[in-house]
Amino acid sequence: MNFHVMTLFPELIEGAVCTSILGRAIQAGYISVDAVDIRTYTENKHGRVDDYTYGGGAGMLMQAQPIYDCHRAIVDKIISAKNAGDPNTSSSSDASSRGGRIRTIYMTPQAGVFSQEKAAELAAEDELIFLCGHYEGVDERVLEEIVTDNISIGDYVLTGGELPALVCMDAIARLVPGVLGNVESSETESFDDGLLEYPQYSRPEEWRGRKVPEILLSGHHANVEKWRHEQSLIRTKERRPDLYEAYMKRMKEQA
Ligand code: ADE
Repeated sequence: MNFHVMTLFPELIEGAVCTSILGRAIQAGYISVDAVDIRTYTENKHGRVDDYTYGGGAGMLMQAQPIYDCHRAIVDKIISAKNAGDPNTSSSSDASSRGGRIRTIYMTPQAGVFSQEKAAELAAEDELIFLCGHYEGVDERVLEEIVTDNISIGDYVLTGGELPALVCMDAIARLVPGVLGNVESSETESFDDGLLEYPQYSRPEEWRGRKVPEILLSGHHANVEKWRHEQSLIRTKERRPDLYEAYMKRMKEQA
């Protein structure tokens, strides 16, 4: 999986992905992260990438031209890399002419909220391009031209799209085969079956008077699984009644 991030703050992206599991996955070649500075593509001699909003109103807007040119450069780079691997492919720089556009995701609070399901859908792609907005937003025309998906990470407004893009990339990358080692499995975690994960315990058996539930020490695999499922249900009902209702409805339909 190759991530390409269009941003005004490439150092924010680079700094965040070079450590821990993502850093290791990059080193091992399971993923790559290319943070591309939109400002490099401005035609403005002062390096400006923003301007006032037509119709008035507070704040500045990111202009269409630098973003469009930045996107084209990324698409060209992806196509060249693909052509280098397969000389029979066409050399057109229009990604849409090559049987499907490269998914280009605009991070914006004006969108549906990111989910595990969306992460799994995007993890199936080979290339993903993220656009991180700033100021009051982005000229609508370039969004119409290049964006295939709009994603929000929650109903609150951040200062820019970099942190949201990092959130999405992290959730997507850990689903890419090889990124998580055997120790960190993505299989049994929250949301896979629509329930929150059960509580977990490590050594010691007793800590500040709190004991590990007896059943987890029993070695009885089936009973442990049953207990964990019950705990998942209890936790989900208590903390996320919306998910609990949806789960119960699905179970009823399947019965
Ligand atoms: N940009 C600013 N706030 C955001 C949010 N909540 N989600 C995605 N992108 C954003």
